[in-house]
Amino acid sequence: MVEHTALIEAARAARERAFAPYSTFKVGAALECADGTVVTGCNIENSTYGLTLCAERVAVFKAVSDGYRAFRRIAVVADTQDPTPPCGPCRQILWEFCGDIEVVLANLTEEKGRYQLKDLLPLPFDARLLRP
Ligand code: THU
Repeated sequence: MVEHTALIEAARAARERAFAPYSTFKVGAALECADGTVVTGCNIENSTYGLTLCAERVAVFKAVSDGYRAFRRIAVVADTQDPTPPCGPCRQILWEFCGDIEVVLANLTEEKGRYQLKDLLPLPFDARLLRP
């Protein structure tokens, strides 16, 4: 298990690679897999705006496409005083692949909070409901 600070540092480094020329709002994410591997993501915007991908989803999709299927924690970093939590669609994607993981929020200088995903996404829709 990597230290919280190391996971946050990985998210900060990923944030530097954000492609966010339209919003200029850079976000980094670092996802810890069950074996301790850390997979990072940054937000990747598009001139159509709607095709923009959040940092969290980039991290999850990179990890899943590399074969990881079990996860422990995700750190999310933005340059804000208030914590920047995952958006609604990202919460759904995180729930699908990661379940009730810990979500660590931080800015460039300090940690801003720790949450369980089930508290950020109460009453989730998931595969359980497709097989009654
Ligand atoms: N964004 C993320 O990458 N993650 C979040 O948790 C919130 C929002 C991105 C999407 C867009 O590129 C920019 O931040 C502004 O919304």
